[in-house]
Amino acid sequence: MPSRDALSFRLNGHPVELACEPARVLLDLLREDLRLTGTKRGCDLGTCGCCAVLVDGRPTLSCLTLARLVEGRAVDTIEGITPAQGLSPVQRAFVEHGATQCGFCTPGFIVTATALLRANPSPSRAEIERAISGNLCRCTGYAKIIEAIRAAAGAD
Ligand code: FES
Ligand code: FES
Repeated sequence: MPSRDALSFRLNGHPVELACEPARVLLDLLREDLRLTGTKRGCDLGTCGCCAVLVDGRPTLSCLTLARLVEGRAVDTIEGITPAQGLSPVQRAFVEHGATQCGFCTPGFIVTATALLRANPSPSRAEIERAISGNLCRCTGYAKIIEAIRAAAGAD
C-alpha cells in the first residue's frame, strides 16, 4: 500500500488536514476524499477546464495538480465561491443570461470568471476571451458566457 503523508491547507476558508498519497492529484482529493463534487472531471488531461479551482486565487487545473503541492496554500472550489445563501454575481449573471445549458462546464467557467473579475473588475471582451480560453463548452457557443461575464462586471 502506498505511504500517505499528512497534508494541510485551507479549503474554502477552513483549515483541513488529511492523509494523502504522494501521487494523488488534487481533483481526486477534492471529489473522492472530500466529497466536493462541484469540481468536474472532464478530460483528466488539462484540456477542458472543467476541473478549475483557485489556488491562492489563481485558476488552476486540479486534474494536473499534485495534491501535495497545495500544502500550506488556499484552495477555493465552486462550493466555496458560492455564497451560503443565493448566488454570487457571476453565478446570477450566468443564470440571467442563459449561459449554462447542460451545466457540466459551468463550475469551471464560474471559477475562472470569478478569478478574472477579482483581479480585473472591468475586463475588456478580449480579456474575457483570453481568460476563458482554457475552458471548453460544447453547448452554448460561448456568446452567452461572454455576455454573462460582461454583465457580472457591470459592462451591460
Ligand atoms: S478535467 Fe482537468 S482540464 Fe479537463
Ligand atoms: S453548458 Fe454544456 S458543456 Fe457547457
